[in-house]
Amino acid sequence: MNRRDFLLGTAAAGGALGAAGWGLASAGNAQDLTLQPASFTFRNKPTEGMVSLSPDAPPPVLFGEQGKPMHLRVTNGTPDYTAMHWHGLRIANGMDGVPYLTQMPIAGGESFDYTFTPPDAGTYWYHPHCMTMAQMAHGLTGVMVIKEAEDPGCDGDQVVNLRDFRLDGDGAFLPYYTARGAARGGTHGNVLTANWLQAPVYDHPAGGLVRLRVVNTDTTRIYKLHLSTEQARIIAWDGHPVEINVPLPSAGEPLLVGPGQRVDFAVQMPGGEGQTANLLAELPGQPTRTMAQLRAIGADLARDLRELKPLPANPFSRPDLSTAEVHDFVFGWTPEGDAPNDGYCGSMGYSFWSINRTPWAGDAAKGTGPLATLERGKSYVLRLRNESPNLHPIHLHGLAFVPIRSNLRNLPPLVTDTMLLLKDEVAEIALVADNPGDWAFHCHVIEHQKTGLAGYIRVA
Ligand code: C2O
Ligand code: CU
Ligand code: CU
Repeated sequence: MNRRDFLLGTAAAGGALGAAGWGLASAGNAQDLTLQPASFTFRNKPTEGMVSLSPDAPPPVLFGEQGKPMHLRVTNGTPDYTAMHWHGLRIANGMDGVPYLTQMPIAGGESFDYTFTPPDAGTYWYHPHCMTMAQMAHGLTGVMVIKEAEDPGCDGDQVVNLRDFRLDGDGAFLPYYTARGAARGGTHGNVLTANWLQAPVYDHPAGGLVRLRVVNTDTTRIYKLHLSTEQARIIAWDGHPVEINVPLPSAGEPLLVGPGQRVDFAVQMPGGEGQTANLLAELPGQPTRTMAQLRAIGADLARDLRELKPLPANPFSRPDLSTAEVHDFVFGWTPEGDAPNDGYCGSMGYSFWSINRTPWAGDAAKGTGPLATLERGKSYVLRLRNESPNLHPIHLHGLAFVPIRSNLRNLPPLVTDTMLLLKDEVAEIALVADNPGDWAFHCHVIEHQKTGLAGYIRVA
């Protein structure tokens, strides 16, 4: 099969052409990102065979500014194919990084210029969408911070990228997925890290206000999180400002943050030098674990959470529920089947999962149509039904949506791109189809995505 044979999506060519027009204007300040083999020491033993953007460090936090063009040149310094996706950014379809749908896979030695202007401020992230399972499992997941045009006035900013790795006692990678895991809740890592470190300590001004950006970039784990302090507030969720009062999670009621999801806390640092505010995770059958610590340094700034200006709203269009057409999506198992045709993008060898009872035929399968076609500019309700006992963080590219109801719980109407669907849950989400293109729609447990729980939605 020739890699340049075809593109699945019809919108892709238009997206790429459209992007070229405004991308080249900023060609002068390209940031070069080169995929390359890396090694890193996790538990006193070096782990080889990592994939990162430098030889010995996690993928860096990429910074951008809301409304300002970015130009990221991704060069593939590995022998495998790749494509880079900017999770949560509502950008032109041709820059979305989905192989065969919006672009061709990037071969070893080749580059692809991603140029876009992020419309929204907030916490986003990036990861490959070709060889997704292998490259993410080996480390290639990084955080993107898109700054507000006007700084909301924190004294510190701290990114925490939550990642698990599956390593043996010598630091070598264990198989990064199992068929058993893929057919159930996914295969969990055994070395839990924050920014590839175990319980790192970050210094911030005593009594200051720190924006703590927690990003779950894991391939599998749904984190249950809370903080050690009550002097904190949730200020953004999946990138977008939280305009309502969301209760702070606690030991009894931790916050579920699925793969792909982000939560921004404003934390008021303790006033005493050396005191800490900790990010805590609850793990089944284990004592509560400290994932990262914020340590107070210097003289007490004596700030107060009430001094925090609200984050400016992102340009999200509220769907009109009175006119919204409803589309149904059922997420469930499929009889064990052949591997999807992922072309050059890595197959796991099975189909276990389906959307609307059809397993994804594969990234490179010809003739695969969209799950739904939405008319540009119109409002829609997507009814998401989980027919399986496993949880699924359902992610839609290119658009933002708002949950409106569930058969199991009260869903706060927080703007998002990834909805964690609970066991047996039927949830409705609403959106305005305001970004044209073919947008990937899949579970962010990568083992589910790569064994069938994937598809795309067309906005035309
Ligand atoms: Cu974060 Cu289609 O992915
Ligand atoms: Cu995405
Ligand atoms: Cu899933």
